[in-house]
Parts: sequence; structure tokens; C-alpha cells
Amino acid sequence: MQWRTERIIFSQLFQSSMVSVHVPSLTFSNGYKMPVIGLGTWKSKPGDVQRAVVDAIDAGYRHLDCAYMYGNESEVGEGVKLKVQEGVVQREDLFITSKLWNTFHRPDLVVSACKKSLSLLGLEYVDLYLMHWPFAFKEDGDLIPTDADGNIVLSDVDYLATWREMETCVHLGLTHSIGLSNFNSQQIERLLVSAEVKPANLQIECNPYLTQKKLINFCQSRGIEVTAYSPMGSPDSPYLKAGMPRLLEDPGLHQVAHRVGKSVGQVVLRYLVQQGISAVPKSVTKSRIQENINIFDFELSDADTSYIDSFNQNLRICHRDHARGHKFYPFNVEF
Ligand SMILES: NC(=O)c1ccc[n+]([C@@H]2O[C@H](COP(=O)([O-])OP(=O)(O)OC[C@H]3O[C@@H](n4cnc5c(N)ncnc54)[C@H](OP(=O)(O)O)[C@@H]3O)[C@@H](O)[C@H]2O)c1
Repeated sequence: MQWRTERIIFSQLFQSSMVSVHVPSLTFSNGYKMPVIGLGTWKSKPGDVQRAVVDAIDAGYRHLDCAYMYGNESEVGEGVKLKVQEGVVQREDLFITSKLWNTFHRPDLVVSACKKSLSLLGLEYVDLYLMHWPFAFKEDGDLIPTDADGNIVLSDVDYLATWREMETCVHLGLTHSIGLSNFNSQQIERLLVSAEVKPANLQIECNPYLTQKKLINFCQSRGIEVTAYSPMGSPDSPYLKAGMPRLLEDPGLHQVAHRVGKSVGQVVLRYLVQQGISAVPKSVTKSRIQENINIFDFELSDADTSYIDSFNQNLRICHRDHARGHKFYPFNVEF
């Protein structure tokens, strides 16, 4: 059985006005704890996302996954403010992540970018600040800067220089922990050599079609906790092309879901957290938001887990192809 109970050190009964859910947490190497299910917010429109945050907190979520790039941090912050004002949660009960976008990698821009996200979210600190990608874009203009031909304009700032200022964000108390997203094992290894503050977390695309076994093992052996993004296969992604298989329609997953009496989404999330990683499913639909956190009353057997392992196709949806030519593009190596 792959349910790595030794990694789920901390658990807590989260009380809310609506339901009680027993959500385990992972403990970072620095002692901070991250609930294993969080609400994703990419593509959640301003107008939808505040309600989604409110519904999520009511359903027992205490982990919110945000980013400057998503363009909705102020609405996420409004949802948080509402639930704090209502007394449903206190700020300290929540684990909130934001991410440094690629146009702010130049060292003099990092701290101010973090402060900008804090101001949008209406927070004094975030729990986790991630470098969204290892490669940088031309600084300080459009979030996706393009030239006259429509090609992305890259920048050669080294992520090691960016990391030093991520460390400054910790020293200034702007974030409890810092981490990485979309880095490969070689890039993480290179960063670990000089990092004064170790990355607590790596956030990567991960689901039964992209199981990431080697990268997960690599991180766990180095004390870096892993978070799965696009756990549902990102069916609303602008990068999902016609003809690509749809994870939530997979007949094998439907078979398992039918047998265990859960939805396909719940089976996928259970499969991920049983590997000792966290997941941040996005939804703006109240029933799905509730469904996605109600995965702690069943276990997948070893046989089911191995069966789902066999669905891996190394199918990456969020590949950011436009940066493929960058020296720090992460997906040109095996893991
Ligand atoms: N670090 C990075 O570079 C990066 C990249 C991508 C994503 N992320 C993070 O990861 C989060 C999740 O990834 P994602 O947004 O790409 O995709 P996802 O969570 O895999 O899928 C979201 C889609 O699945 C639907 N859905 C959610 N729960 C469902 C369920 N139980 N049954 C059926 N459909 C369900 C949602 O619909 P409704 O919303 O309509 O309910 C939405 O269309 C993001 O929102 C973001 O926070 C990070």
C-alpha cells in the first residue's frame, strides 16, 4: 500500500459553519504544515472566485492556491476577508500560496512582486511563495511580453539570483516558506547547492496521465514536499487540444470509481494524496468543491493504486511551449 502515513504527520479536525472534514497535512522541513487538499484558482473568473473561496472555506478547505498571474488575487482575498470577518476562520487557520511571475525574476523586482500579491490578497504574509517557472520573461511589462511577430520575449535572469531574493522575502516575514514550481530535478539539484533557505515545496503538473514518479521520489528523498497541479487533467485548460485524452472520461478510472462508490474526481485525488503529496483541484462549482475535499473516508487498495499507476502516458498539458528555446526550459529532460 502506498499510503505513506509516516509523511502525514499532522492532522486536524477542521470545523466550519457547513461541514467538518478531517484533512491531513504534510509537514515541511521547516516545520510549517500544508493541508493536502487546496483550492486551485487558475481560470476562476473574478466574480466566480470569491464565491468559490467562500464555498471552499465553508466546505473545510484551509489551503488556497493563488498566483499573481491568475489575475484574481484581490477577489480571492475578498473571500478570505469575508470568512475571517464572519469568524468562520482566523488567518492563522489558512494556508495561502502565491507565486512569483516570470516577468519579476530580476532580483530588484522580487520583493516588490511579493508585496504586490500580498496587497492584492489583503494579507500580511503568505504561507508559501513559489517561483512559478524556472525561466524568466522580459521584465516589468506585459505578463506575456511578445515581439512584433508575436513571439514571447525571454530574459536570461538566472533562477539562482531570483532565489536569493525569494530568501529575502522569508527574512522580511512576507512568507513563511518558499518553493518552486515546474522545475526539473537537475534544476532543483543546482539550486540546493547554494540555497540558504531550502525549497519547502515543488508544485508540478501531476495526475494519473502524468504520474511523475521519479520527480516525486527525488523531491521526497530531499525533504521537499510535492503538490500536484491540474489533478483533474485541467479540462478547462486553454492548452488542452482536440484529440487529447480526457482524464475524467477514462474508462479505467470510471471502473475504479464505480467499484469504490466514489466519483472519478475523488478517486484521482485520493490516488494522489495516498502517495504523500498534496493536490490543488480548481473548481468554481459548489458541489464539486465539496466533493473534492471529501476523500478522507475511503482508501484505494494496492491493486487499485497499481492499476491507476499503469495509466501514465507522460501527458503534459501545461507545457508552455513558447519558452522551449529558453536555457532553463524544464521539460527537455526525463524528470
Ligand atoms: N504552478 C503552475 O504552473 C500551475 C499550472 C496549472 C495549474 N496550477 C494550479 O493548480 C490548480 C488546478 O489545476 P487546473 O486548474 O489546471 O485544473 P484541474 O484542477 O485539473 O481541473 C479544473 C477543471 O476541472 C473541473 N472539475 C473540478 N473538480 C471536478 C470534479 N470533481 N468533477 C468534474 N470536474 C471537476 C473544473 O470545473 P468547474 O470549475 O467548472 O467546477 C475545471 O473545469 C489551478 O487552478 C492552479 O491553482 C498551477
